[in-house]
Amino acid sequence: MNVPFLNPGAQVAALRSEILEAVARSLDRGHFILGPDVAALEQEVAAACGAAHGIGVNSGSDALTLALRALGIGPGDEVITSPFTYIAPAESIHQVGARIVFADVHPRYFTLDPADVARRITPKTRAVIPVHLFGQAAPIRELGTLGLPLIEDCAQAIGAELDGKPLGGLGTLGCLSFYPTKNLGACGDGGMVLTQDAALARTLRMLRVHGIERRYHHDLHGWNSRLDDLQAAILRVKLPHLAAGNARRAAIAARYDAGLAGLPVETPLTAPGNRHVYHVYAVLTDRRDELQAHLAANGVPTLIYYPVPLHLQRCYADQGWKAGDFPVAEALSRRILPLPMYPELSDGQVDWVIRQIRTFFGA
Ligand SMILES: Cc1ncc(COP(=O)(O)O)c(C=O)c1O
Repeated sequence: MNVPFLNPGAQVAALRSEILEAVARSLDRGHFILGPDVAALEQEVAAACGAAHGIGVNSGSDALTLALRALGIGPGDEVITSPFTYIAPAESIHQVGARIVFADVHPRYFTLDPADVARRITPKTRAVIPVHLFGQAAPIRELGTLGLPLIEDCAQAIGAELDGKPLGGLGTLGCLSFYPTKNLGACGDGGMVLTQDAALARTLRMLRVHGIERRYHHDLHGWNSRLDDLQAAILRVKLPHLAAGNARRAAIAARYDAGLAGLPVETPLTAPGNRHVYHVYAVLTDRRDELQAHLAANGVPTLIYYPVPLHLQRCYADQGWKAGDFPVAEALSRRILPLPMYPELSDGQVDWVIRQIRTFFGA
């Protein structure tokens, strides 16, 4: 059997005719930039995430950068985030000219450790970017007590909940990515900023289109980061299927949990109060590289998220971080192994992956 690690084309194939109709409607209308499907998607996604406003932008990375700019964060400021994640949050802090400050993560939840965040606050700290990694919430209740704006990175967690409330509308700002493999993925790049604050929403609407409210009148130093109507049209077809997709991911996670029980691997832990949407299902093992090779030899290619913690990336060599600075993140980078996870996986494929892992451990 062959089990692709990711398969974003499968979801598009299942909705092909609806997607083609939506694309045809957008093409016929000819309003390609910030068109009516963008406006409708902004309302639908904001409502789904419990936020008053949604501002469609070009990518999840831009969503983070514009969120920082909307808060007026720039040179001389510090922003705290995680070293164990995709690089976008750190990159966005660097993009606005502020200083990246990392705090270590929880060894089993993989999200920011609030006690370490608290230790790293200085008079220059202007915000925290908690990443809801792999589909469950960072500890934003605890982080919320620190008195700093929170920019939720929800790129991997659309549809997830904490204490019964959807992520994205809980912090000062929330940032989504519609990268094709995300739980709600476009057929290209896309992102959105969420907020309850009307003034921030207005600023973000200006920042994404060269600082204007009135054409050719530039009131702010802006940027070009607009969501295409075609991508919004596709996302509007997929959005009603998000809850079912997330439920299927949770069922696959439960199947992995049961099938891997008793083996010398640590299966994912869900933090209290969370409804996890399993963007990623990752196990921890001291024999990670051997297990990865064994799976690849048996039709199960995998990708490591994340093989190098951000503080040890070459692009940050001038920042003075060294091995040992964030020991939990470093240990995770050595031990983590994500398994195939997407709603279109069949039970038979999941069982195949489980069987290969059981064989590897001689079980
Ligand atoms: C946690 C996280 N934040 C931000 C991003 C950036 O999103 P995009 O690829 O849409 O720029 C991603 C992924 O791609 C991500 O995984």
